[in-house]
Amino acid sequence: MKIASTFDYRTLAKRRLPPFLFEYIDGGSYAEVTLRRNVAELERIALRQRVLNDVDQIDLSTRLFDEDMALPIGLGPIGLAGMNARRGERQAVRAAEKIGIPFTLSTVSCCPIDEVAAAASKPFWFQLYMIRDRGFMRALIDKAKAAGCSTMIFTVDMPLPGSRYRDVHSGLAGASGLLGQFRRAWQGALHPGWAWDVGIMGRPHQLGNVAPVLGHDSGLEDFLGWMKTNFDASVTWKDLDFIRENWDGPLIIKGILDAEDAKAAASAGADGIVVSNHGGRQLDGVPATASALPAIAEAVGDQLTVLVDGGIRTGLDVIRMLALGAKGVLLGRAWVYALAGGGQAGVEHVLRIIETEMRIAMALTGRTRIDQIDRTCLVD
Ligand SMILES: Cc1cc2nc3c(=O)[nH]c(=O)nc-3n(C[C@H](O)[C@H](O)[C@H](O)COP(=O)(O)O)c2cc1C
Repeated sequence: MKIASTFDYRTLAKRRLPPFLFEYIDGGSYAEVTLRRNVAELERIALRQRVLNDVDQIDLSTRLFDEDMALPIGLGPIGLAGMNARRGERQAVRAAEKIGIPFTLSTVSCCPIDEVAAAASKPFWFQLYMIRDRGFMRALIDKAKAAGCSTMIFTVDMPLPGSRYRDVHSGLAGASGLLGQFRRAWQGALHPGWAWDVGIMGRPHQLGNVAPVLGHDSGLEDFLGWMKTNFDASVTWKDLDFIRENWDGPLIIKGILDAEDAKAAASAGADGIVVSNHGGRQLDGVPATASALPAIAEAVGDQLTVLVDGGIRTGLDVIRMLALGAKGVLLGRAWVYALAGGGQAGVEHVLRIIETEMRIAMALTGRTRIDQIDRTCLVD
């Protein structure tokens, strides 16, 4: 299949992955209203075409959190990413480095931090979920520091995991017994490319960062069930102090969808926020991030760095989000589809595609630098 877009990588991922993994990536919570909204709201935003400006030299680079970035894009945290290609997080961090953008490692990655650090040659970002055992949390943050992680993303929109119908139907959720194992093994057997690359050669299949406290039962058996019992739903703004005591680098709070919470994040001393609804995977029915972003950026955009994610599939979407007030974006499904479809090369390719799409959008909105992108790029 000739790949021209993120959408093609999605098709390829669907073909290559066993359904329990594809549906896990692709799906959202409940009726998937917010998941659809994220994409639809972005598509609806009309870019304002302007012509006969000198757009011969377009510079897509930016600087965020004291880091030079080739594009205003980071690879967002994705749990279980390593199940989509052999030792997937290792491949993804290398792709991000090749392109010159940050990679974020999820707490619930397959490869542990030190394995990813060994594959990386530059600092990457680490995403933290608050797990009940604070001693373990401290040790995890120490590991991130020792691995040279530059920036911490603290995700706050998952006190409990949202219920995803597709995970129940596909056999990922609530199927920890023999029957569940058999279903997943059967699905794997019907996808021999994946079964060899990941099922056999990609072992061990664990949540690498939390395996030390969990032993063998590290969550893949009933991933969502595991999250329900181990994530700390009692966390409040006060717990940011705990992170601050243990982490002195840039701290970004991910999962903000309301201007009041954005202000609270600024007051709590966060360096950045990610306007996010977890890709429509948590509270179904909340607004699309493209709808929530403008008011949030207006409320706090001069106090901290506003990033956004949700529904971004093209370079045009990146420009739309910057025009709505974000300083940078995180990709979610876009990079994981590509990882599943083509490993490291796939992730590099999809980023090149998005880069090219950004160039055309900038050329035809008459902008040559990222800091020139603002509301006037949009038809209002
Ligand atoms: C398969 C999958 C796993 C995810 N795992 C995590 C995670 O471990 N931590 C986190 O903060 N966000 C996680 N997210 C949310 C993403 O970081 C991001 O917010 C979301 O994917 C953005 O929406 P998009 O996929 O439509 O671009 C996950 C998303 C997906 C699709």
